[in-house]
Amino acid sequence: MTDQTNAVVHTPRVFSGIQPSGHLTLGNYLGAIRRFVEMQESGIETIYCMVDLHAITVWQDPDALCHATRELAAGFIASGLDPKKSILFNQSQVSAHAQLGWVFNCVARMGWLNRMTQFKDKAGKNREAASVGLFAYPNLMAADILVYHATHVPVGEDQKQHLELTRDIAEKFNHDYKVDWFPITEPVIEGAATRVMSLRDGTKKMSKSDPSDMSRINLTDDADTIAKKIRKAKTDPEPLPDSIDGLEGRPEARNLVNIYAGLSGRKPEDVIDEFAGAQFGQFKPKLADLAVSVLSPINAEMNRLMADVAEIDRILGDGADRAAAIANPILERTFDIIGMVRSRQL
Ligand code: TYM
Repeated sequence: MTDQTNAVVHTPRVFSGIQPSGHLTLGNYLGAIRRFVEMQESGIETIYCMVDLHAITVWQDPDALCHATRELAAGFIASGLDPKKSILFNQSQVSAHAQLGWVFNCVARMGWLNRMTQFKDKAGKNREAASVGLFAYPNLMAADILVYHATHVPVGEDQKQHLELTRDIAEKFNHDYKVDWFPITEPVIEGAATRVMSLRDGTKKMSKSDPSDMSRINLTDDADTIAKKIRKAKTDPEPLPDSIDGLEGRPEARNLVNIYAGLSGRKPEDVIDEFAGAQFGQFKPKLADLAVSVLSPINAEMNRLMADVAEIDRILGDGADRAAAIANPILERTFDIIGMVRSRQL
């Protein structure tokens, strides 16, 4: 379809992915999965992927990777993603991702990837020892999105730079081949908890890979563990302020208020109005009750789903078939644009 200026008009389509590396955290849930569910209910086509090819950019034990992929699928479904309404699958079952990823390795420039802060953080001081995949990772991420011509990508704040790169890749491809082919994707970074911080250090992101399990809440944690982690969360000695500005310079307090807001679907301002002047001794038990009330049913449902992995695998296989039916024609047309001889179907 084209508009009056002859530019391709892309139908709205949502894509996002999560790495099956370790357990899902509260950060993944509030920053990403809750948005995934909202978008599923908005009537737009939604495609959500367990990005196993991304996970192996750092070492993964094979059995643990397999388990984490199924557990992630169970977490998606238990959180409200419906495999009939959304397409749910694991990345390695749709080969078009890796194929377009290679094309984008040839579009993106070294200088662009050298600027990626996530690579710098993950590679640490010993960059020589990092895998090539870890460096090229954002190109594969761009391929994940653009192989579906996705227009909207719900993510947490930490993925913003990768989505800017995705736009740069789409623009360069369109420019180099003089086509209007790939859409310029919109990041969707919304809600009170787009950056959930560690419970041990309010200046660090809550992450699956933090060595301290006390720094995060996992979707697999039971009610007692969740309550204990919140009780022990780092705070400062002041009571909660009476306005949002009073959270300035108090990263741990801000984080707990944002988590409360994210879990209750309210604005941080409303949470502050309710708890102005409260000590953490009063606020933390309320937060723990709220977290348990939201997360425990998800945890129970995940356990139920994990009892039947054959059914999870069936759902992922069906999702992969539906995903490939969208991705393969887009990849074929991309190969035509580039000038690849094609004498058989993908
Ligand atoms: P990953 O697996 O690290 O995280 C998955 C999603 O969870 C969000 N997130 C957070 N949000 C708020 N606070 C936090 N502490 C927090 N931690 C994680 C992330 O922003 C993300 O939305 N590169 C991606 C996976 C990916 C992808 C894609 C995403 C691969 N291809 C295509 C979107 C589109 C990643 O490593 O996310």
